[in-house]
Amino acid sequence: MCGIVGYIGSRKAAPLLLQGLKRLEYRGYDSAGVAMPGEGGRLWVHKQKGDVAALEAAMGASGDVPPATIGIGHTRWATHGDPSDRNSHPHVSMDGSIALIHNGIIENHAALRIELEEHGYRFMSDTDSEVLVHLIDHLWKQIPFAAFESAIRQALSVVEGAYGVCVVSSREPDMIVVARHGSPIVIGIGEGEYFVASDAAPLVEYTRRAVYLADGEMAVLRRDGFSVQSIGSVKQEAAVVELDIELEEIEKGGYEHFMLKEIFEQPEVMRDVMRGRVLPGEGIIQLGGVSGYLAALRSAPRIHICACGTSWHAGLIGEYLIEEFARIPVEVDYASEFRYRSPLIGPEDVMVVISQSGETADTLAAMRMAKERGATVLGICNVVGSTIARESDCGIYTHAGPEIGVASTKAFSAQVVVLAMLALALGRGRALTEERFGEAVRELHELPGKMRRILERHQEVERIAGEYAGADHALYLGRGYNFPVALEGALKLKEISYVHAEGYPAAEMKHGPIALIDEEMPVVVLAPQDANYRKVRSNIEEVRARGGRVLAVATEGDREIARAADHVFYVPDAAPFIVPLLCVLPLQLLSYHVAALRGCNVDRPRNLAKSVTVE
Ligand code: M6R
Repeated sequence: MCGIVGYIGSRKAAPLLLQGLKRLEYRGYDSAGVAMPGEGGRLWVHKQKGDVAALEAAMGASGDVPPATIGIGHTRWATHGDPSDRNSHPHVSMDGSIALIHNGIIENHAALRIELEEHGYRFMSDTDSEVLVHLIDHLWKQIPFAAFESAIRQALSVVEGAYGVCVVSSREPDMIVVARHGSPIVIGIGEGEYFVASDAAPLVEYTRRAVYLADGEMAVLRRDGFSVQSIGSVKQEAAVVELDIELEEIEKGGYEHFMLKEIFEQPEVMRDVMRGRVLPGEGIIQLGGVSGYLAALRSAPRIHICACGTSWHAGLIGEYLIEEFARIPVEVDYASEFRYRSPLIGPEDVMVVISQSGETADTLAAMRMAKERGATVLGICNVVGSTIARESDCGIYTHAGPEIGVASTKAFSAQVVVLAMLALALGRGRALTEERFGEAVRELHELPGKMRRILERHQEVERIAGEYAGADHALYLGRGYNFPVALEGALKLKEISYVHAEGYPAAEMKHGPIALIDEEMPVVVLAPQDANYRKVRSNIEEVRARGGRVLAVATEGDREIARAADHVFYVPDAAPFIVPLLCVLPLQLLSYHVAALRGCNVDRPRNLAKSVTVE
């Protein structure tokens, strides 16, 4: 939700800011803007509706981009106020001397706006963020000789809600002030220069050293050094960490879209997520991040899983996995629902939170609620150093590498494998026999090879996509482990191709969705040869009897299904718990190709952002 960048050093800021914004565009692309000192020391601000490429073109055409060596930039995902030039960031004080960019939501903006208007402030936008820049200006004027950062600190102590902010002033031309409460801010440390960003992606081409601001912290950056303090003004120790992202990981590497690259990365990601953890020779699963907690996890009366979107689908598979292998009852909730009911959770319970970004607002809030009630929280995150990763009691990183495509693909597979490893590790100390454990570990080990075999046949999916790209609706059916895959397939299709799609447990079709079936309605059926096969075959017949078109995802060698379905995509035979990881690949490819054929912007679907840091 919104990307923030900043730079202070000796290089020209404008190209660095634009490059940083391009790296963060997956966080929002409704508008973009920059601010930096210009002629006569006055702030030069350029902002407009549209993406960073449009901003770059407009700045180039303007011919007056200042050669400043300090500046800030923003790419927006609209919350308050439509995507428009006037609602773009940076927001600027009335005298033009302060510019601010913000990620998050100022919840008491309406009350603050009224107060500020009474003091004569005129607002230029409909955003919540603009109150902050006027508030800083107002407070700075109230306190004679006060430092810029003091005014910012005071303003932040008045606002309620979430923020990552970055502020500059023409009156303090050699300083950037950043602060965070709920929305991430990372500071990259260079030689005589500092970079600011919402996440590490824009930093890695310039530096490996970084400081992740914690909630309630503020930092002042100058060319010759930086300091971190709490917003309450107490000096903090800045923990410098090494960034472990490679530049290639955040570039398209010859693929047309990040999503396609990320789909194809999955076999390698599977190896990375299991490396050093699944040890088939030794018959063990080693999960360093939870080792001290295994006993508590195994004896939990119940495990709650909370997540949003695709991560929630992974959580549903986690329920099947943990119940099958560890025999511990599991409840899965949307994080947004969990936090607003009266959940029964206490010190004996375990909560597993799953989040690619580690910053999703609802997941974070559900996790904090569980912690307050004394539950042990285990975080499954992809982004190293993210808030959920840091605030969990224990955790397992998915090691999927940066996921840039807004539609989650490789992160999902990595989450499912982490959940499988967790289920097996928990089961090992409970009822799971050595033999079953050994078989499962061998199956995991064979997964990357099986995924590769599927991806080698990607053109088959592309051809099938051509048959279905014109449909405006689709139904996805699956049972058992493959029901969450049906949900995930439907979500993938709707989010990037804007085709309305529904995922259902196959047996539920008869209880309503069957009324939708006609010649226009493609039905994607997950029909691997497992215990539910015969039942799912009957569902296919029911669809066909009503004129529906069926695309089946089936097990290699199943010749029977080829007669029943209009199209079949085969996946290798595997244990039931591995099959969802295979079936999801053709569904990801299908949605990708349908979206591409429909001319949709695959990596940047409308109205979406990668990281949902607002409720
Ligand atoms: O970063 P998270 O895993 O917490 O994100 C959760 C959802 O916002 C995310 O999975 C979303 O549904 C994706 N766009 C799905 O492709």
